[in-house]
Amino acid sequence: MAKIPNTVLFSSKHLLVLSLALNVSLILRMLYEGEERHNNISCHKNGTDFDTKTHSSIIKSRLVMASSTSSLANSTCTDLKARSNRIINLDHGNPTVYEKFWRQTGDKTNIIIRGWQSMSYFADVSNICWFLVPEFAKEVMRLHRLVGNAVTEGRYIVVGTGSSQLFLAALYALSPSHANEPINVVCAAPYYSSYPTMTDYLKSGLYKWGGDANSYEKDGPYIELITSPNNPDGHVRTSMVNRSQGLLVHDLAYYWPQYTPISFPADNDLTLFTLSKITGHAGSRIGWALVKDKEVAKKMTKFIELNSIGVSKDSQLRAAKVLSAVSDSCEQENSQEGESFFEFSHKLMTKRWKQLREVVNRGELFSLPQFSPAFCNFFNQVLEPQPAFVWLKCEGNVEDCGSFLREHKILTRSGKQFGVSTKYVRISLLDTDESFTQFLDRLSSIKSM
Ligand SMILES: Cc1ncc(COP(=O)(O)O)c(C=O)c1O
Repeated sequence: MAKIPNTVLFSSKHLLVLSLALNVSLILRMLYEGEERHNNISCHKNGTDFDTKTHSSIIKSRLVMASSTSSLANSTCTDLKARSNRIINLDHGNPTVYEKFWRQTGDKTNIIIRGWQSMSYFADVSNICWFLVPEFAKEVMRLHRLVGNAVTEGRYIVVGTGSSQLFLAALYALSPSHANEPINVVCAAPYYSSYPTMTDYLKSGLYKWGGDANSYEKDGPYIELITSPNNPDGHVRTSMVNRSQGLLVHDLAYYWPQYTPISFPADNDLTLFTLSKITGHAGSRIGWALVKDKEVAKKMTKFIELNSIGVSKDSQLRAAKVLSAVSDSCEQENSQEGESFFEFSHKLMTKRWKQLREVVNRGELFSLPQFSPAFCNFFNQVLEPQPAFVWLKCEGNVEDCGSFLREHKILTRSGKQFGVSTKYVRISLLDTDESFTQFLDRLSSIKSM
């Protein structure tokens, strides 16, 4: 047998080692890439709009760095899956959006209520509204004057456990007490979805839901609710029925600079405001009514007395603190104190509407309302409205927009609940940054109906 030369043997040994090393590295690479591909595929499979590419670098670095590579990668993927499976609930208008601002204020908005304080039922026996805490009333008037959104001179302030309680107090106070039949309560559709249920749930003999003000033609007295800017569609409104026998309740929950240009101070007979939507402190359950007529203010106060023997004084003190912080921030705007509350909240809403319009305008599946800009006396410039809710319409042949979005794990409130077509839904823009971002991601991933 011919002898194989040493040099040949040497190089073939090297070749073998080299080829083995190459194979091992190839197998490792395939395993690694396979795992990453698997991560991406399985995360994509869950039907999310969430961009896994932007996160692949995070996954990659974790894979390389960590010894327990796959468990970390799996946990990242689990996070992504959890995100994509998460139900985004934007049905309620839960106003958590301003939390960041209030965190930034630190101790400045703390209040201390000592054990012996606010014990009495009474707050100010000289006032028609005897449970109204004077510090709270003072801050309400101060803020309206500063913002210029409501006339407070010649008005009685009635405080309520949220403007929801004041709504019922207003219906009680305005209804004729000896009429043969309940007075009709109407509002132009789309109307705030709670009005019909709140009006009818106790089956009052004094008032009843009379439906859409657009088609209300009955003679005689009636109560008309005017929400401006309107919940759900964000439009500025005036009376629809517009007849002399109408008793008007203006619900101005959203007449604040972050949502709409403040064009004039509201000068109505009965106007409702709520802490919930201006500052986001919905949990304090504080609202207030500005009432022109003394007898109406007395009757509203009586309703609250019979309903809850007043309104939490602790909550009124907290509301006073929060409102005073808003006013202070406006007055100190040009000092070193940083952004005012309205600058912060206006900027935030501007950003959200811009991002939302970009996503919606990218396709033809959905449409949004258009608003006319107007001069805002508060910001001293022409501005566009940027409502607290998105009134979204499903275009094309989807008849039930709410069910369609629910399939994509976005919970909204159907147009039906606002007295109009199911082609519309209301979506809250007052939720956390995280929910809003996920909502945009998911909306932009919907490519067909
Ligand atoms: C138009 C309107 N009015 C009143 C309310 C209730 O406010 P509150 O939390 O003060 O009861 C809301 C809440 O969403 C609302 O949108």
